[in-house]
Amino acid sequence: MSMCGCHHLISIDDLSKDDIARIFYESRSAIANISERAVVMTAFFEPSTRTRLSFAMACAQLGISVIHFEATSSSMSKGETVDETIRNLIAMAPDILIIRSSESLTHKFGDHLAATSIINAGDGSNEHPTQALLDAFTLLNHFTCDDLVGKRILIIGDIEHSRVAHSSIKLFNRLGAEVSLLAPQNFLQQKNLGQQNNFTKFLDVQGEFHAVMCLRIQKERIRHEAMSSDGQFFRDFGLTSDRFAMLGRNTVLLHPGPHNAGVEIAQELVEHPRSLIRQQVRNGVVIRAALIQFLLRGKHERKTRPPNAG
Ligand code: NCD
Repeated sequence: MSMCGCHHLISIDDLSKDDIARIFYESRSAIANISERAVVMTAFFEPSTRTRLSFAMACAQLGISVIHFEATSSSMSKGETVDETIRNLIAMAPDILIIRSSESLTHKFGDHLAATSIINAGDGSNEHPTQALLDAFTLLNHFTCDDLVGKRILIIGDIEHSRVAHSSIKLFNRLGAEVSLLAPQNFLQQKNLGQQNNFTKFLDVQGEFHAVMCLRIQKERIRHEAMSSDGQFFRDFGLTSDRFAMLGRNTVLLHPGPHNAGVEIAQELVEHPRSLIRQQVRNGVVIRAALIQFLLRGKHERKTRPPNAG
């Protein structure tokens, strides 16, 4: 396999086909500690349970020190901006800085940041590439295959404001899946990220699906007037046991969490035998450990590469 090409992970677009294969390969191989002295810093400017803790778990399993920046007890309470705070964290030169922010991280970091790799842990409604990697990895493991060619995946819910959807549509598409979206018109993805079908009614959804992903309404990013009531949304788009059964006999269920029962999904489906939701959470640790190793190995390779090696 070629050298690690990616220095930061802000978007799925930053990964080559080889990079994706290598992260999945690392995820399947036993965790081997490659850098005892590496330091990872996390800076979460928005709430998180799974993403933050799975990065921390991954670091603990790799034996890598992790430092958590706490916004509430920082100089942000004295008026320092997010950008300025990030610049100061980078000045301390952690090997990896993991950022969750309500602002887009695109175009913020160039390759001149030699000492620090940035991992996007979710930036506003832009992208959430590690969630997409763990979603795809969960499906690849379930189907025991190396790509998603021939797989039909339906994503339901607030796709337009979901960073998970944006990264997942791109990655599922890159792995060969046919991606269909189901949402009210104002929640449908406006830009084409590789989706093949757009549906605005459950009744219009055609055929069987190998997987369905439900998404929470991103209320924190939507003006109140643009939203229907939770009850109305559940009636029109909520995944119930009956609707799940209609999507196929073997369809598996994904949800990135946190879920809102009775809004986008019925509670009983969360623990359904074909729900992969807990496996997604488990794979979140595995994928993040693999990504951290991948980035540290890339850094090591760049450092030890002979000067004229191209
Ligand atoms: C998502 C997020 O924060 O983007 N959750 C996650 O990281 N597992 C999805 C969401 O908030 O709805």
